[in-house]
Amino acid sequence: MDIITASDLTVGYGRAEVLCNLAFSIPEGLITAIVGISGSGKSTLLKTLAGLLPPLGGGFDFAGSPVDYRSEASLSRLYAKIGVLYQDGALLNGLNLYENVALPIRMHYPELPEGVVGDMVHAGLAQVEMADSAEKFPSELSGGMRKRGALARALVLDPDVVFCDEPSSGLDPITSQRLDDLLLSLRERNTMTLVVVTHELRSIERVADRVLLLNDGGLRFSGAYADLARTDDDFVRTFFMRKVHHDDA
Ligand SMILES: Nc1ncnc2c1ncn2[C@@H]1O[C@H](COP(=O)(O)OP(=O)(O)O)[C@@H](O)[C@H]1O
Ligand SMILES: [Mg+2]
Repeated sequence: MDIITASDLTVGYGRAEVLCNLAFSIPEGLITAIVGISGSGKSTLLKTLAGLLPPLGGGFDFAGSPVDYRSEASLSRLYAKIGVLYQDGALLNGLNLYENVALPIRMHYPELPEGVVGDMVHAGLAQVEMADSAEKFPSELSGGMRKRGALARALVLDPDVVFCDEPSSGLDPITSQRLDDLLLSLRERNTMTLVVVTHELRSIERVADRVLLLNDGGLRFSGAYADLARTDDDFVRTFFMRKVHHDDA
């Protein structure tokens, strides 16, 4: 089943259309990579799918219902079912990890007793192997740990879909591989759908079941990762081959 279906979707800012008339679907329970060169609109598309940036045209369904940006109830239903790992990590520096991970719970379920909040936070931290770091502040954590902490926050309400924008950007290759392993383990353990923006081919190759390749204001390829090898679109072939050689150099 598809958890997200976009039709005729145009995204951008005010009069500046970044991607036009996209049609695609994102299947449930798999990892879909949104791929493209810098500035191709990956983050813009992610923001629109995550309920943060109104589409300029068309729209999309989430779990079978159209998302209506004019309706707060519709957006709330969306927010309750998704988690977002932002491109710049965005743990709040003034709060320790426990409080950072507790934020979405406090926002969506302000009435929950602290004992329950604590159990949820600790379960979230355990999922990213950070159970021992709850009291630490972001400044006391490594880059990889901050990413995992932000991922714990994205996971804490047990979302159906997790959106990750460049989860391994700025990380060394080993740490970035650990983060990829974590994404794969999420797919294994839950029926969770992951939508991951990335431009690292190594990462795409390891984690992606499906690929959406953005280029020049549109969708250049949409399909199974395995089908990339079979495409006769030269642009798509070059895009991925160039990256392979670049990464291996
Ligand atoms: N807040 C914004 N307001 C106006 N234009 C923006 C904004 N954010 C990004 N853009 C523009 O939208 C285009 C796509 O950006 P982005 O989605 O960030 O690309 P990517 O994530 O693929 O690098 C770029 O031309 C960028 O300059
Ligand atoms: Mg981006």
